[in-house]
Amino acid sequence: MKNILYCLLLSLTHMAYSQDRYLKDQFTFPIGASINPSLLSTNEAYRNVATSEFNSITAENHMKMMVIHPDSDRFDFSKGDELIKFARDTNKRIHGHTLVWHNQVPAWMSAFAGDSQAWEKMLKNHIQTVATHYKGQVSGWDVVNEAFLDDGSLRPSIWSKNIPDYIAKSFQWAHEADPNALLFYNDYGQDGNPQKMQAILNLVKELQARRIPIHGLGLQMHININSKNESLASIIDQSKATGLAIHFSELDIAVNPQNDSTFVYNEAAKEAQIQKYELVFNAYQAIPKQQRYGITFWNVGDRDSWLRGYFKRPKEYPLLFDDHYDRKPVYSSLLRK
Ligand code: XIL
Repeated sequence: MKNILYCLLLSLTHMAYSQDRYLKDQFTFPIGASINPSLLSTNEAYRNVATSEFNSITAENHMKMMVIHPDSDRFDFSKGDELIKFARDTNKRIHGHTLVWHNQVPAWMSAFAGDSQAWEKMLKNHIQTVATHYKGQVSGWDVVNEAFLDDGSLRPSIWSKNIPDYIAKSFQWAHEADPNALLFYNDYGQDGNPQKMQAILNLVKELQARRIPIHGLGLQMHININSKNESLASIIDQSKATGLAIHFSELDIAVNPQNDSTFVYNEAAKEAQIQKYELVFNAYQAIPKQQRYGITFWNVGDRDSWLRGYFKRPKEYPLLFDDHYDRKPVYSSLLRK
């Protein structure tokens, strides 16, 4: 009898434990995910996990130029607005992604013809219309995304080609439209590319010297189990030293970066991934509290990851939830943090 009672008690405690503890409640900084609005409306398991585990969201694609500004004289805020509504209904912060990028640009922009004044007017109109639409609703914006190549040089793009000083201008224009939004420079691959990291630090210094508002750095953190711990520690330290808000903005940790078709997600790979996630979270927690804007995962379950879809890597398992939206062991390891 005593035994039965004990088991009952144990299972009740366990139930309460597993239902009540969510990622978002475990950390003193926001925990986010990028969200795909069509999955949100069609997939209940996705919606449940997105709702209960996270308190910050980023639109995976639906605030990008291509989606939000499909024709020169037409903006389409419908999907972005759906995400804003979801965030409001479920008490979440929303981070804006992204105002200026060389990718996912609508065809009319790529084909745009005009002198630098015309280009400026076009980009300014884009930035200010979007930032004004979401004014007061997003806490921050990735103003410029991926402007540097790995060697630290300015990436050739329609923006760098046609608008001198486009990065500084974009930050200025965004600030004019939504003075309360925190403005981020966002990029990937700082680890292992010291010149790229340096270019970003130089940009911060330059903008600050010119009194152009920049408030944060987004480190995308698309990393993998082979990413070097020392490099990660070093870019996190260097970012921290700027004193700006730091966002791990698109975190995923790939286990099969070579896209090996015979790959098996075995115990060793799982353990390596756990170690890497723990390192990232520990390093983030060592950043002063007032600089911690949050950690955002790049989507919810492994099956939703862009590494599967965009990079066509069917045997990739980079996130905290499996193909059935069940928590993976790596989830529990972070909860113990
Ligand atoms: C990716 C999305 O996840 C994909 O669905 C889309 O096809 C391509 O873009 N860096 C970024 C993100 O800043 O916007 C990218 O998102 C991933 C890399």
